[in-house]
Amino acid sequence: MTRSVTVRVPAKINLHLSVGDLRPDGYHDLVTVYQALDLYDEVTVTPAAEISVRTPGYPEVPTTTKNLAWKAALQLLKLTESGEGCPVAIEIDKQIPVAGGMAGGSADAAATLLACNTLWGLDLSRSRLAEIAEQLGSDVPFALAGGTAVGTGRGEKVAPVLLARHQFHWVLALADGGLSTPKVFAELDRLRAAGPVPRVGGVDEVLTALATGTPEALAATLGNDLQAAAISLNPALRRTLNAAMQEGGLAGIVSGSGPTIAILCADAESAADVAANLAGRDVCRSVRVASGPVPGAKVVDRT
Ligand code: C5P
Repeated sequence: MTRSVTVRVPAKINLHLSVGDLRPDGYHDLVTVYQALDLYDEVTVTPAAEISVRTPGYPEVPTTTKNLAWKAALQLLKLTESGEGCPVAIEIDKQIPVAGGMAGGSADAAATLLACNTLWGLDLSRSRLAEIAEQLGSDVPFALAGGTAVGTGRGEKVAPVLLARHQFHWVLALADGGLSTPKVFAELDRLRAAGPVPRVGGVDEVLTALATGTPEALAATLGNDLQAAAISLNPALRRTLNAAMQEGGLAGIVSGSGPTIAILCADAESAADVAANLAGRDVCRSVRVASGPVPGAKVVDRT
């Protein structure tokens, strides 16, 4: 009888994020290229009298039914027909920045699905879990899949980019405070209604750059339609982006809806240098080095 299951789940950045117009359902169609990085949350589920969530050290993360991990456990529990499931205590060891544009909440939901699937012996396939994941949030299916992938629809339809085998080295500049994803999308709508805003265009160039494998080629193709909106809500991000280039980054972009900045570097050594130099300047809260792609959510322990 398994008593607890721990799943490790990666953060994501978007190498390319092209945002279409607002849809009637309140979402935006988008075309994105996700990459999973070796910055992980660990989620442990243990049978309990009722569902609960703990995120030690992160009082700002909701521990109520608003937490996506809670919703994930409840959703899967409702789907178990013959009583295999049970309420779980969910403990989240967070490394992924909170409200940082790196899909930390979505990652925790993906990890909870996989952990409960294992704890309860449901044996649901990855594709069935992905179907449940997409009801929880646009980025949740990618957190299950990992690697490098193209996302379409509202981001939930995920297709792996099989040619992307090269390892890329990143510096992540974490900002003070977070940005709310709906507010950043709404800000983009507002900016677009006020006048023309440049768009990142098609995805082909980034896919070609991923296939050739050089970081310099990839750097030239990075782009994010949400960047203008994130900077509009948090103008200090421009200073971080400028500093990243001055310190030797090949290119910097806002990650997803921000405010984390992802800086592509030539190699691991360069990433360590850029991180050290950025940390010595007053342009962000803290820095991390990371590399990707890495696999998606994975069971790492069961007792
Ligand atoms: O899917 P998720 O719950 O993570 O999305 C959070 C919010 O971000 C949505 O309610 C919507 O306001 C915005 N969003 C969007 N278009 C997308 C994805 C998210 O407008 N493709």
